[in-house]
Amino acid sequence: SVTLHDDVERILLDEQSIHSRLAEMGEAIARDYAEDPPLIVGVLKGAVMVVGDLTRRIDLPIDMDWMAVSSYGSGTKSSGVVRILKDLGADITDRHVLIVEDIIDSGLTLKWLLTNLRSRGPKSVEVATLLRKPDAARVEIDVKYVGFDIPNEFVVGYGLDYAEKYRNLPYVGVLKRSVYED
Ligand code: PRP
Ligand code: MN
Ligand code: MG
Repeated sequence: SVTLHDDVERILLDEQSIHSRLAEMGEAIARDYAEDPPLIVGVLKGAVMVVGDLTRRIDLPIDMDWMAVSSYGSGTKSSGVVRILKDLGADITDRHVLIVEDIIDSGLTLKWLLTNLRSRGPKSVEVATLLRKPDAARVEIDVKYVGFDIPNEFVVGYGLDYAEKYRNLPYVGVLKRSVYED
């Protein structure tokens, strides 16, 4: 029989560490936006777990919406050319927007998303991400809330996938090389 955990080399961040860091981030967000609560924009699909656990620790009447975007063009991931698969339902004119991501890798997806959302006339657009890989960054992005800076390794779980699998691991783990190399 298969288990979800067989392909994991080691756990990088366990459930407890993720939840306590998200609680701290939620408290900071609640303080910073106390006067004017933001629209939370989750980036599908990777950010679903982060949005779920983070927003439950933001003690403010926030709104929630979702975008789905996809890189295309060269065929490689993170070409920087992004297509909107699902746009926001909400009009963000004159509102504070907080984008929530699972991970910032090259930063190209987010750079494009920031430019796109800022062109719609919001009061502000900021970013909260659970993970960031400083060694993989190809563009500079100002990120207001970062959970953890992690090494440039292939991580899955807690929303992050490899070929659409492993999103439902409750922790963030490093995938065995044998899974994606032969
Ligand atoms: C992943 C991740 C971020 C993005 C980061 O999403 O969830 O959204 O890539 O990469 P970058 O900083 O190099 O642009 P992906 O495109 O795999 O879609 P998914 O969230 O549906 O898995
Ligand atoms: Mn994503
Ligand atoms: Mg992905």
